[in-house]
Amino acid sequence: MPVFFFSLRFLFFSAIIPFLASIVLYQLDTFDPAPFPPNALVYSTASIPPLINDQLLTGAEFIGVGLLNSPEDIAYHRDSGLIYTGCVDGWVKRVKVTESVNDSVVEDWVNTGGRPLGLAFGLHGEVIVADAYKGLLNISDDGKKTELLTDEAEGLKFKLTDAVVVRDNGVLYFTDASFKFNLHHFAFDLWEGKPYGRLMSFDPRTRTTRVLLRDRYFANGVSMSPDQTHLVFCETPLRRCSKYYINEERVEVFIQDLPGYPDNIRYDGDRHYWIAMPSGVTTWWKLSFRYPFIRKLQGIAAKYGFNTMILEDAGVLQVDLDGKPIALYHDPKHSHVTSGVKIGKYLYCGSLMDSHIVRLDLLKYPAQKRL
Ligand SMILES: *[C@@H]1O[C@H](CO)[C@@H](O)[C@H](O)[C@H]1NC(C)=O
Ligand SMILES: *[C@@H]1O[C@H](CO)[C@@H](O)[C@H](O)[C@H]1NC(C)=O
Repeated sequence: MPVFFFSLRFLFFSAIIPFLASIVLYQLDTFDPAPFPPNALVYSTASIPPLINDQLLTGAEFIGVGLLNSPEDIAYHRDSGLIYTGCVDGWVKRVKVTESVNDSVVEDWVNTGGRPLGLAFGLHGEVIVADAYKGLLNISDDGKKTELLTDEAEGLKFKLTDAVVVRDNGVLYFTDASFKFNLHHFAFDLWEGKPYGRLMSFDPRTRTTRVLLRDRYFANGVSMSPDQTHLVFCETPLRRCSKYYINEERVEVFIQDLPGYPDNIRYDGDRHYWIAMPSGVTTWWKLSFRYPFIRKLQGIAAKYGFNTMILEDAGVLQVDLDGKPIALYHDPKHSHVTSGVKIGKYLYCGSLMDSHIVRLDLLKYPAQKRL
């Protein structure tokens, strides 16, 4: 028996052949990842806030268990007190939350037939949806009419419409994370390491779509400053959020070296933004972003059905209006947190994986100074 296992023939078939085959596969594969800009590979503790809760799930409550299928973004409608969220089955759902989460009511509101991600409220009660597959949608307040506003700019179709925000004057600002890869293949966008994302505006009066910024790395969440002068938007693989000054058409870094990969960013009406990070920075992510050949291997593995994208230690970072970190709520046991919205004393978290919204009482479970 042992003789067989260590025979040359065994070695040949079990190791050398697969090894040679994978070299050929690697060489033949056309997937061609690029190096990331060097500043994306800097890891510092500059963006770690003084206050931390590293057990986000401890004490957290689950809302709409089993009724919300990957509720990605969360938008709070103040007048009605309803939470809107977009699910992977195409439903925009409305949730009436109460003190006791078990009494919450989930309503199937409108199905876009696509994958609703970012949500925002228009000036006339309509709900604007950044639908990953469809583009930018306008759903009338009674839910009876869904209209496509835009799905291309400068001759390039959106592949992954991601987030949207509405300015006081009615102009919509939104992101397309990638014009090359759709949501189903978004991992390839991260692995390829090339900037296919755009920040854009849509003016409902002229019905024109304008590209404000191109060549962005997976342009993701976008939020409006309370004084309406600038946007803050996230670029996931760069672990960075930037400001875009609307009148000056100028870009400036808002926060970088984030402790994770940012997704949605939400303003809370109380001088803070909340940046959700579906994954923290792990050794594997670091290696993968540093070495394009690792990302190439990941891309090839994915084509053969092996998922090497591991998300862990998700969280939400609270920052002030200048991008100064205030508090981090995260959990090594949690992943795929895509949005964080503070409503009253609660933090509500959306997810790309859970079948519920996670709610944390910030007074009972605050972030605290580290010892
Ligand atoms: C809510 O429902 C869950 C699951 O059914 C149960 O374990 C929990 O005790 C309930 N909580 C309250 C406050 O009723
Ligand atoms: C959305 O559609 C409604 C009519 O259903 C219209 O009143 C509103 O102006 C539209 N909003 C945008 C941003 O186009």
